[in-house]
Amino acid sequence: MPNRFRKRSHILYILVTLNIIFFLVVYRRLILITSSSVISSVDLSIASFNENNLDGQNDLYSSLSSSICYIPTFDPWDQTVAKTIRIKPIYRCPMNKQSLINIIDNTQLVFNQTVNETFYSSSITHCVYLKVGRNSEEKFFRDWSYTLSEPILIVNGRTDSITDVDFVLTRCYNDRQGYFNGTEFCGYNCLNTIKINPVDKKASPTTPKSPGLVYEYIHPLIRLKKPRFSRDVWLNKENSNWISKLLPSSISNRSPPSVIMVILDAVSDLQARRALPQTLSYLKSQGLFTFQRHAIVGDGTFENIVPMLFGQPSTNYQKPNMNDSRYEFPRTEIKVDKKTKKRYQIKKIVHYPGPYDDYPFILKNFSKLNYTTFFSEEWRESAFYNLKNGFRQQPTDFYLRPYWLALYETMSYNKYGGNSNPKPCYLNKLLHFLSLDWLERFLTVHHKTPDYPTFGIMKMNEMSHDYLERLFWIDYDLKNFFENLFQKNLLNNTILIFCGDHGHRQHRLRQTRIGSFEVKLPFFSMLFPQSYKQEFPQAMKNLKNNEQMLTSWWDVYETLANILKMVEEPNIFDPLLVNWRSTTTGISLFHPIPERNCSSAGIPEKYCPCSRSTPLDITLPVIKDLALASIDHINNVKLKSHMHLCLPLELKTIIRAEVEKLVIPKIVNNKTAAVNFTHSYTVLFEVSPSGGIFESRLLYHEQTKKIQLHSDILRVNLYGQTSTCIQDKYELRSFCYCISYHQKLKNNQSSSITVQYASNTTVINSTTTIKN
Ligand SMILES: *[C@@H]1O[C@H](CO)[C@@H](O)[C@H](O)[C@H]1NC(C)=O
Ligand SMILES: *[C@@H]1O[C@H](CO)[C@@H](O)[C@H](O)[C@H]1NC(C)=O
Ligand SMILES: *[C@@H]1O[C@H](CO)[C@@H](O)[C@H](O)[C@H]1NC(C)=O
Ligand SMILES: *[C@@H]1O[C@H](CO)[C@@H](O)[C@H](O)[C@H]1NC(C)=O
Ligand SMILES: *[C@@H]1O[C@H](CO)[C@@H](O)[C@H](O)[C@H]1NC(C)=O
Ligand SMILES: *[C@@H]1O[C@H](CO)[C@@H](O)[C@H](O)[C@H]1NC(C)=O
Ligand SMILES: *[C@@H]1O[C@H](CO)[C@@H](O)[C@H](O)[C@H]1NC(C)=O
Ligand SMILES: *[C@@H]1O[C@H](CO)[C@@H](O)[C@H](O)[C@H]1NC(C)=O
Ligand SMILES: *[C@@H]1O[C@H](CO)[C@@H](O)[C@H](O)[C@H]1NC(C)=O
Ligand SMILES: *[C@@H]1O[C@H](CO)[C@@H](O)[C@H](O)[C@H]1NC(C)=O
Ligand SMILES: *[C@@H]1O[C@H](CO)[C@@H](O)[C@H](O)[C@H]1NC(C)=O
Ligand SMILES: *[C@@H]1O[C@H](CO)[C@@H](O)[C@H](O)[C@H]1NC(C)=O
Repeated sequence: MPNRFRKRSHILYILVTLNIIFFLVVYRRLILITSSSVISSVDLSIASFNENNLDGQNDLYSSLSSSICYIPTFDPWDQTVAKTIRIKPIYRCPMNKQSLINIIDNTQLVFNQTVNETFYSSSITHCVYLKVGRNSEEKFFRDWSYTLSEPILIVNGRTDSITDVDFVLTRCYNDRQGYFNGTEFCGYNCLNTIKINPVDKKASPTTPKSPGLVYEYIHPLIRLKKPRFSRDVWLNKENSNWISKLLPSSISNRSPPSVIMVILDAVSDLQARRALPQTLSYLKSQGLFTFQRHAIVGDGTFENIVPMLFGQPSTNYQKPNMNDSRYEFPRTEIKVDKKTKKRYQIKKIVHYPGPYDDYPFILKNFSKLNYTTFFSEEWRESAFYNLKNGFRQQPTDFYLRPYWLALYETMSYNKYGGNSNPKPCYLNKLLHFLSLDWLERFLTVHHKTPDYPTFGIMKMNEMSHDYLERLFWIDYDLKNFFENLFQKNLLNNTILIFCGDHGHRQHRLRQTRIGSFEVKLPFFSMLFPQSYKQEFPQAMKNLKNNEQMLTSWWDVYETLANILKMVEEPNIFDPLLVNWRSTTTGISLFHPIPERNCSSAGIPEKYCPCSRSTPLDITLPVIKDLALASIDHINNVKLKSHMHLCLPLELKTIIRAEVEKLVIPKIVNNKTAAVNFTHSYTVLFEVSPSGGIFESRLLYHEQTKKIQLHSDILRVNLYGQTSTCIQDKYELRSFCYCISYHQKLKNNQSSSITVQYASNTTVINSTTTIKN
């Protein structure tokens, strides 16, 4: 049948043509990047290409393109990781209580009589509110306390606009006794009642000191704080200049862009693709750029957020503050007398790093340009507050820390010692709704007109940090959140950054090969105003290309600095033409990022995701030697001066191993000899008695069998309370298994240990269940 034959040959012809085009595209790329090429040794077998077709091509490109930095691509649902993920049904907060007090106009409190009748059997006698403030004169709190005002009675079910405070705590009672003298409200000053300190930092709601208290809720209030941004002033900076008179209308219509960052703690690129398909698909339909070769520059949130927002290495921010007696924290430590071998306690003063008031927080630069700034982070122990002194002066216009600190102590919070509450509810809402609602309200107040540009950072922890399975719960809510903002035009002229900080560090998934890559490749994406496509086509093209490049938080910092320059030079405004100069190892993502290796991208070796390693049989004798050498290093180097506190570790099992033959031998010099190491190994092993799982990278010389540690040994499962005996060197906590802990465990066979942060008025109990 000639007809059909013709059709076939036609299709064949098209296929061949397509193939040639495709080959040319790929080949051209090869030519571009193969100057020092080692392309022939690309091992595609270890990467899987289960993505849909379009992504498949990208994957092929990213795998082939990088002779300098090769990162295998993985299927987010590869069976080795899928096995480790156990999604539980979403936790539903009880609906039998609802808010008795609502906010209108973002500043007024209104009592809801329907709720009084329906959920409280009309028993509410009166409600009050207390102003919540920062306590910048705190001692021993490191930005861990807040102040409460005298209670103010809510009369006739509503208040006027409250405009002198950012947060109010509302309380409702079912008993007037003790709060009224006749008809007069006397709050805490009534005679015959126990006097409560007006600056009640502990704010413990359920104490018998507050009889009749049945409801507590904390609300942020949002109002305009900055002067209206004057575009006339902004655009006429050089109004003596005749050029400004000739400005085209595209310039006179220009407004400063807002920047909103939504940061999800511990979410990798793969995890975002796994758990947030609806959100990503929605944002991609709006033009989202996603950077799949974006790498961490340090371990935790702090080590990544400091480069991202301050443009400096976090080590500059980890020096203990020895200068301010307000930051001296008394601690006890156990010592052993060398002669008698007796153990005794000594008291010591611990100094934490911070506060960070005088550091170049980039939000402050925007704030100086009349941007309204916003910072919210759910957890108490995170970023600037985890063993650090935080900020003494409020760093942003809206700073939700006092809100979150107070929230966890109010009765609407389903209390739980420590992070990762199994039932993370605030009254009838899962915690993430609070973050989303308050960001939306902030945007509603400021983005109704183009006159109040903002820089907002909203970071969420509870739904992603400890249980990566929880991120699946909020996909729909996040998608709704963004969709709603776009529909209400609240993201007009806004640069949206939607990202993680680092990948998951302790989940079972971390023990897989994919997990060991994923931890280094955090989620990072950006969305620009639609108009930028026409206005800045080259910059947008660069961003598109940069999606495939090795990037890091240094580049994100430079991008923010580049945006700052656009606002500082409104008559130029073009991201490629304003006077942006890199001050770090980063490059603004508006500019072309070249092929580069980790060291030129500012990514320390230890966190470098570029690797051509291949999995290895764990029964090979060399693997055991490498694991033992690592344990030897922990016991005899790391913990050398802490042997009186920590038990020596022993090899329990080897979990996984990989090897990479070094193309260029790694030469390590020491005083007596130089060795050309030929192989780099990665070994994952478990030790006893702590059950710690470690990942160690080592260099190996094939002929001489010499071994050398390549970079620090990483702990990849939680250590909980097993190492709290280490009071001074926190970096040793992931290694040490405390003798004292072991004894306590033996003594009471208890599976839960309580730790108290020593402080005068607040005791935070964190309880960790030790598995096995
Ligand atoms: C009062 O509460 C009811 C029941 O939850 C709710 O339907 C209603 O919208 C609330 N009224 C106001 C003004 O918020
Ligand atoms: C709650 O409802 C009861 C019955 O209608 C009413 O007497 C009481 O004043 C209400 N509480 C408040 C605070 O308005
Ligand atoms: C009530 O107020 C009156 C007059 O102000 C005062 O004399 C009395 O001591 C008050 N009683 C209580 C219980 O506070
Ligand atoms: C920023 O605020 C200051 C102080 O109110 C004002 O003088 C200045 O004109 C404002 N600049 C812009 C661009 O609105
Ligand atoms: C402490 O004070 C010394 C001398 O005044 C100064 O050099 C140092 O930078 C200060 N350290 C901190 C952390 O502020
Ligand atoms: C946002 O953009 C939409 C569509 O371009 C426009 O109708 C609306 O007026 C804008 N809103 C503001 C506040 O600029
Ligand atoms: C922000 O302001 C600080 C202090 O004024 C300055 O040192 C820093 O260079 C500024 N950052 C940028 C990116 O311009
Ligand atoms: C990384 O790239 C830079 C610049 O191309 C080069 O000088 C350096 O030697 C490279 N480093 C490594 C470890 O390959
Ligand atoms: C230097 O390297 C040699 C050979 O690997 C080794 O025997 C020696 O212990 C090393 N010396 C030091 C100080 O690390
Ligand atoms: C290491 O290798 C380089 C070249 O690969 C060679 O020039 C050098 O002599 C070697 N050094 C040692 C100590 O083996
Ligand atoms: C607690 O505060 C009191 C005074 O308010 C002070 O004398 C004491 O030293 C503080 N103790 C600790 C452990 O902070
Ligand atoms: C903390 O734990 C201790 C011991 O279990 C308990 O006595 C205390 O009430 C707890 N404190 C808080 C604030 O939960």
